[in-house]
Amino acid sequence: MNLLFKISYGLYVLVAHEDKKDNGCIINTLMQQTSNPEVLTVTVNKLNCTHDMILNTGIASCAIISERATFDIIKGFGMRSGKTENKYEGIKSRRAKNGCLIPIDGVIGYFDLKISNKIDMGTHTQFICHPTDREFFLEEDEPLTYSYYQKHIKPKPAQTKVDGEGEAYICTICGYIHKGPIQDDIICPICKHGREAFVPLNEYKKDEKTLSPKKETSPAEEKYICTVCGYIHTGPIPDDIICPVCKHGREAFVPYPQE
Ligand SMILES: Cc1cc2nc3c(=O)[nH]c(=O)nc-3n(C[C@H](O)[C@H](O)[C@H](O)COP(=O)(O)O)c2cc1C
Repeated sequence: MNLLFKISYGLYVLVAHEDKKDNGCIINTLMQQTSNPEVLTVTVNKLNCTHDMILNTGIASCAIISERATFDIIKGFGMRSGKTENKYEGIKSRRAKNGCLIPIDGVIGYFDLKISNKIDMGTHTQFICHPTDREFFLEEDEPLTYSYYQKHIKPKPAQTKVDGEGEAYICTICGYIHKGPIQDDIICPICKHGREAFVPLNEYKKDEKTLSPKKETSPAEEKYICTVCGYIHTGPIPDDIICPVCKHGREAFVPYPQE
């Protein structure tokens, strides 16, 4: 086990607002550095859409997620990018004083933040922030920690076995089993591939196909897919891998079949 796994974090939605665009991403890097004056830091990947919006505007808001939140908020804000998606579709939200749009469901409260400084960390930027406003939504709730999320909120990786009889289909990408008749417009709830990725489970077993890469694949060409967010890792997979997108560990990865 990697000792880094024993560091405790909370989970937050870091929100940005630039011109008419609203966006946000999940972070686990909000920290209080000093209490007088109040100084907080957030560390954001330079590839995130939220990163550039904060860099350009010098403001952000940070919402504290509750233990009562569902996987939807993590998936919606943490496993897709505002570069291609409007993350607020269907999300109940309220505009903060600084213009940022705060999701409400599953959120304990939020800080509006003004960025006073930043540290270039190579892949990430650490923003030094000062709260300019704050509001509580769910004062009695417990804040969501990364560990609580891992144990109680994150879906378990797909199983490759199904018990019982009856019609069933397997997603050949991630191993998710769909029970019952299959629809043409099915989208795998784990890896988001469509109908073409599914084959009947009994035929799959008969052909002795496996989810492992074909034998002729060299180790350097092996591919593994994160069954939570769809990220693909190429090459031999280390036991202590952490998905760079959703931060799940080795247990979330299954071999990704090669053509
Ligand atoms: C549990 C979890 C924790 C995350 N923590 C961080 C983080 O601390 N910093 C970061 O830059 N991205 C983090 N991410 C990844 C971003 O939320 C993710 O890449 C997001 O899709 C970026 O969206 P954007 O491009 O719209 O900004 C985390 C994701 C998850 C699921």
